[in-house]
Amino acid sequence: MPQTYDLILRHGTVVTPNGRERADIAVRDGRIAVIGDLGSAAAAEEMDLRGLTILPGVIDTQVHFREPGLEHKEDLASGTAGAAQGGVVAIFEMPNTKPSTTTADAINDKLARARGRAWVDHAFFIGASADNIPRLAEWERLPGCAGIKIFMGSSTGSLLVADDETLAAVLAQGSRRVAVHCEDEGRLTERKHLADEAGHPRAHDHWRDVETALMASKRLVALAEKAHRRVHILHVTTAEEMAFLANHKDLATVETTPQHLTLAAPECYERLGAYAQMNPPIRGIHHRDALWAAISNGVVDVLGSDHAPHTREEKDKPYPQSPSGMTGVQTLVPIMLDHVKQGRLTLERLVDLTSAGPARIYNIAGKGRIAVGYDADFTVVDMKAERTITNDWIESRCGWTPFDGKRVTGWPVATIVRGRAVMRDGQLLGNPLGEPIRFQESL
Ligand code: DOR
Repeated sequence: MPQTYDLILRHGTVVTPNGRERADIAVRDGRIAVIGDLGSAAAAEEMDLRGLTILPGVIDTQVHFREPGLEHKEDLASGTAGAAQGGVVAIFEMPNTKPSTTTADAINDKLARARGRAWVDHAFFIGASADNIPRLAEWERLPGCAGIKIFMGSSTGSLLVADDETLAAVLAQGSRRVAVHCEDEGRLTERKHLADEAGHPRAHDHWRDVETALMASKRLVALAEKAHRRVHILHVTTAEEMAFLANHKDLATVETTPQHLTLAAPECYERLGAYAQMNPPIRGIHHRDALWAAISNGVVDVLGSDHAPHTREEKDKPYPQSPSGMTGVQTLVPIMLDHVKQGRLTLERLVDLTSAGPARIYNIAGKGRIAVGYDADFTVVDMKAERTITNDWIESRCGWTPFDGKRVTGWPVATIVRGRAVMRDGQLLGNPLGEPIRFQESL
């Protein structure tokens, strides 16, 4: 009796830990069963992926989809639809909702909201605050929880842990890697008048300057060393932080974003105004070059999109009342494939940053590589497709992307989550059956 499988992907070029191979992949019960020549093996469903490249499913470890009061318009349904359209199989959602996600009940509420509505797999961060410190060690291990997130500087929402004493108290609770937004709150407050006086987003990277980010990253690493705690520094934007963090790779992992690798000041603020405003800010070309150097030399561990939708109405408010954040989950893959095409990084390094990296730093169970026994999560891309990113392609309810009109080479053509195609050729398929991500530290 020949073996039968649920799904066979045939004739694709597969990116495995061995490199690029021509191979078929068979899936059973949502996991990869065989990689190789599947000859005449039978399956309930087959996909002919001739001419296409099969990457391990892309995991976006920093998105803001929000929900509770829905005041930001985006929700888990629209946010994860954008993920599926963009070739992203799993997301980690941030806790700066209204009210903030700072309790076990809030995490469980998000998991319940995601059930039957999320197109991709998901995990939720618990926000650290002065009030929930005694419970964090317990709550960081909840099923579906990605761990603790700290905001050292104010961004969207009211979550904040600004002083060293409270930070140290948070870092002393629990053991998982803690994700941190590093901008120094004291310096932000002191310099806010610069934004008010300028009244234009071109002042954004002056108000929230290099020192604001560097001070916070240094304070965090010093406290993490004392606490013997692993930390993950989100959206690193400066040459100075990359140089500093290169000397702290034992403890601190590093994220940067496709927006910071692609846009640059002052051009982005002149062209896009507040639609280029995010925290930490997009900076000048010197810093962008340093981020690319840190991609090349390995200092960067992961890419996160920091997808943070704000409506046009909100963005059109006069700066600095205009909120910070841009969509990004749907454009991460096409923007980065275009950078691969331009020769700025290899496809293998991109996989390292978007699949293997997230799995490694957060100890995700069963995801992040194409290997037998792992979840059958795949981002299928056409490396040759030339397409234009447009606002009307964006699933996010805010309906815009800073990359509107950008021509790219390389496009996600199918998103497969645990053996189910949830997107093929721009169409969402079936029902939203995303599940909570599992972590080795809380199995
Ligand atoms: O620009 C940003 N927007 N940076 C953040 O850290 C938060 C985000 C948001 O939630 O809107």
